[in-house]
Amino acid sequence: MDVLSGTAMNFELTEEQKAVRDAARDFAQNVLKPGVIERDREQRFPKDEIRQLGELGFLGMMVSPEYGGGGMDAISYVLAMEEISKVDASCSVVMSVNNSLVCWGLETFGNEEQKQKYLVPLAKGEKIGAFCLSEPEAGSDATSQRTTAIDKGDHYLLNGTKNWITNGGTASTYLVMAQTDVAKGHKGINCLIVEKGMPGFTVGAKEDKLGIRGSDTHTLMFQDVKVPKANRIGADGFGFTFAMKTLSGGRIGIAAQALGIASGAYELALAYSKERKAFGKPISEHQAIQFKLADMATEIEAARLLCLKAAWLKDQHLDYDKASSMAKLFASEVAMKTTVEAVQIHGGYGYVKEYHVERLMRDAKITQIYEGTSEVQRIVIGRSVLKEG
Ligand code: CAA
Repeated sequence: MDVLSGTAMNFELTEEQKAVRDAARDFAQNVLKPGVIERDREQRFPKDEIRQLGELGFLGMMVSPEYGGGGMDAISYVLAMEEISKVDASCSVVMSVNNSLVCWGLETFGNEEQKQKYLVPLAKGEKIGAFCLSEPEAGSDATSQRTTAIDKGDHYLLNGTKNWITNGGTASTYLVMAQTDVAKGHKGINCLIVEKGMPGFTVGAKEDKLGIRGSDTHTLMFQDVKVPKANRIGADGFGFTFAMKTLSGGRIGIAAQALGIASGAYELALAYSKERKAFGKPISEHQAIQFKLADMATEIEAARLLCLKAAWLKDQHLDYDKASSMAKLFASEVAMKTTVEAVQIHGGYGYVKEYHVERLMRDAKITQIYEGTSEVQRIVIGRSVLKEG
């Protein structure tokens, strides 16, 4: 199906989608902005802000109301992620992981008991979730899991280490990928729901990061953790497919985060260029600055279209693997480029914290790394185009 032809092409947002975007914008500007520099400096998790985001329904946006969610579409999710990320990417990564990796994974592949027990509090924002795939030696090469979940009849015995886990310290519910049958390779991997406080589960020190410093990134250690069989998602050996399918939607969230970081930096640079005078006129009247603004605006618009197309495909239940990787690849590169240019337009002011753009530049970098590096996105896109061609 050619989804960009004929009557299927419509760029108009619904009234509901506009209302979600405006609510997210208000929250970002009025609640997140005042403390964002301080939280970044102190590496302070936005605990109160995340609680409020949950109360507003932004932590389980796409979950069905039956399970405590907002029942919204993926387009609304992209719009909200962009607005929150314009101001506070530390906050939006919590939102993204909870919505698209944890809630979506549980709602789509969990059984009824798992949904009632784990999904409902996560969708309501009463609890936070984490997605645990990366390991010291299994980042991009995600099939090489070393964490083991040995089948012991009514439970699995979980042993191993997970790295760079977003929400690692603050989460209550962890989706942990582990190898049950090494001989079966990626077909021997399971996803287990692990609760904070299970004996043998330890949260390591918080990472001291370049960007998204308010977010809570930890190493997790599992030593002989007994996880009930009832906590396995899907059939035996479904864990790797679960991770891949979940990450595909997660990449739409991170693409929207990158888009927000870029558009936030662009809006600041545009406003600054109209105020700042040099050589007798606002710098926006110099062609050198206009060319930068023109490139930024064009690339941001292209990134937005890719994000919305991937979200639209997801909403239509069409294949979105290639589209989500394209959106993430492109939007994260635009985020990096745009934030560097926003700092440049601000000159010396751009290099100090007060003007926000240096933080956005630091935050942008992670969007090229997590939920699959730019190289991983190229692998996914490359394989897809070769199959199509
Ligand atoms: N849906 C369903 N199945 C899929 C799939 C998808 N989207 N992608 C791959 N698979 C299946 C394949 O069909 C294959 O199954 P079969 O053998 O039955 O055909 C299996 O998975 C293995 O696939 P590949 O042979 O393609 O595997 P590969 O080793 O070549 O790697 C990869 C593929 C795309 C590089 C993958 O490993 C990958 O995505 N790596 C990156 C992982 C990642 O994104 N990590 C981020 C961590 S999470 C995070 O960052 C969260 C956070 O805290 C912010």
